Amino acid sequence: MLVIGALIITGATFLHGARRWRRESATRILLAPGAYTQPHPRPTSISMPLLANGINANHSVWLDAGGRHIDTAFIYGDDQQKSIGEAIRRSNINRGDLFITTKVACCPTLRCNKFCTSSNDVSAYDPAAQLNHSIELMGLGCPPARFAHRKSHGYARSTSCGFVDLALLHFPCSRFEDTLRAYKVLVDARDRGLTRAIGVSNFNASLLQALLDAVEAPSLGKAGARPAVVQNAFSVAGHPASHDGVGNACLEGSRLYGSTDETLELAHRAGIVFQAYSPLGGVSNVDVLGRREVRRIAEKYGRTPAQVAMRWLVQQRVGAVSATANPQHAAELLDVARFRLADADMAALSGLT
Ligand SMILES: NC(=O)c1ccc[n+]([C@@H]2O[C@H](COP(=O)([O-])OP(=O)(O)OC[C@H]3O[C@@H](n4cnc5c(N)ncnc54)[C@H](OP(=O)(O)O)[C@@H]3O)[C@@H](O)[C@H]2O)c1
Repeated sequence: MLVIGALIITGATFLHGARRWRRESATRILLAPGAYTQPHPRPTSISMPLLANGINANHSVWLDAGGRHIDTAFIYGDDQQKSIGEAIRRSNINRGDLFITTKVACCPTLRCNKFCTSSNDVSAYDPAAQLNHSIELMGLGCPPARFAHRKSHGYARSTSCGFVDLALLHFPCSRFEDTLRAYKVLVDARDRGLTRAIGVSNFNASLLQALLDAVEAPSLGKAGARPAVVQNAFSVAGHPASHDGVGNACLEGSRLYGSTDETLELAHRAGIVFQAYSPLGGVSNVDVLGRREVRRIAEKYGRTPAQVAMRWLVQQRVGAVSATANPQHAAELLDVARFRLADADMAALSGLT
């Protein structure tokens, strides 16, 4: 009897645990151990909320709707980053419950000339200064005790003790040597506790492979210098976008910048989390929400086309950075954990070009 009772309790606990895991695995993703090595005796795992809100969005709306991941970048400008800090302070949400991603420019770059022209006194050619500037502007809180080892070297202006959760190289520099030099600055920033994890953005498969080869070379002298995340344009009907970046100001959605299945596959193989920007086709200029197949599947599940487009990503363990100022839209985007697309519907969406 006692044994049967124990089994029932264990079974119930297991089922409850499994349910919770299923729910959480649809909303958060673990970053690969080793991708965020910290000089700390007990490195903890880092989990990233899969859905983030980006530029020109209302971050208070996002936080009120339950979103906990915010995406920004040095080149988005001072006002954007200050407004994130204000939204966080207004929300009264603990810093530890939030996940903040920022990005630093890699200059000179072939991707977009305007990205290397700074609108403030910080040079877009100095990744350490950019990261420091973003952290200061957002006024982020103090890091956990494990970052207490931070040294001031190279970050003399960092008088506050803020940190971000993820710092990405926003795009590659024109030359690989410069890209690698900027990436090493991020490795160093992570080891100093200015960011918990690092990654890259707008890297195609061959560049990502070149980076992986380089960071594993003894010359870099660091295990665990692999990127934890790659953030590229990616969406239903936009992997890559049919226009290949043409007509877009800064080539969002082009093959050249990794908006491809090949890059996604490499990321999965290498244990790097793939994060899709433009998941609804916004700046990548892809018609996602108007596609007949997307609308048909949305109707079948009693969901909106936006929810189907987001679910298609999340179900492949791909994160998404959207942008909304609309409370209804924010609530919809964050409500993709409670349904599952059948394999046939996933395949139909994957086949859209
Ligand atoms: N790494 C990079 O180089 C890079 C490049 C570009 C962008 N990004 C990041 O990615 C973010 C998002 O890019 P994006 O703007 O192209 O994203 P997107 O999600 O493809 O498009 C956003 C648009 O979708 C609409 N929307 C959002 N939720 C919706 C819903 N539930 N139903 C219908 N429409 C909805 C928004 O309008 P409403 O406001 O009306 O909701 C907005 O116009 C940027 O803000 C930025 O943070 C990164």
